[in-house]
Formats: sequence, C-alpha cells, structure tokens
Amino acid sequence: MALFTWNDSYSVKVALCDQQHKKLFEIINTLADAMRSGKGNDVVSKTVGELLQYTRTHFQAEEALLRKANFPQLAAHQEMHKKFVNDVEGLVNQAREGKAANSIQVLNLLRDWLVNHIQKTDKQYSECLNAAGIN
Ligand SMILES: [Fe+2]
Ligand SMILES: [Fe+2]
Repeated sequence: MALFTWNDSYSVKVALCDQQHKKLFEIINTLADAMRSGKGNDVVSKTVGELLQYTRTHFQAEEALLRKANFPQLAAHQEMHKKFVNDVEGLVNQAREGKAANSIQVLNLLRDWLVNHIQKTDKQYSECLNAAGIN
C-alpha cells in the first residue's frame, strides 16, 4: 500500500519536475514498505542510498532549470536542497554504521520534505519557469 500518493496538488507545472517528484514518491513508498514489513537493515539502507542518489539527480536537474529561467531565489533554493541532502546523508551513514535508522524519524523527515518543499518551495518557481517557456 502506497503511503504517499502523488496528486495534482503536488504539481509544480513543469513536466520534468513533476515526473521526478513522482519517482521520489515511489522510492519513499518502497522505503516505507521495507520498514513496515520489517525487512532487514540492508534493504532499508539500500533504499535510502537510492533515495540519496535520485535526490541528487533531481536537485541538479531542477537547479539547472532555475538557472536557465534566472529564478531570483536560486541561491536560497539551493541551500534548502543542500540541507536535505545532508540530512539524508546522515541517515545513510547511520545505516552504514549498522544503526537501524529510526523509522519514524526517517519517514517524518521525508514527509516534511515532500509536503513543505514540493508544495511550498518548489511551487514558487512555477510562474517564473513557465514565463521562461519551461513547462
Ligand atoms: Fe526544489
Ligand atoms: Fe523538486
């Protein structure tokens, strides 16, 4: 059962970003399932690693579009991306050290990022990108 479901309220009106956000939802759901079904720490840490990798891919692509559109808040946006990557890296390191990541802590972090970052921060670039012909 999917824990987080993408719907139109998450749309940032840029097809590439919506597509990558959907993929992030998928990875987070896989992680939530692995945690809930009591899969071993190896599965959890592998999925957190995948999340980190795909997050980096997405942030790079998103930042490239913001740069192309001369988005005025690019620097602040990049800072938020950096903080999230640092937080996820912390989880990866915890998992590597064999410490089972606290699943509630992990899912709260991810949900906070999804809801706040996509619905509030990412949406702030929709108008600017659309005006620059990026849809
Ligand atoms: Fe973003
Ligand atoms: Fe994003």
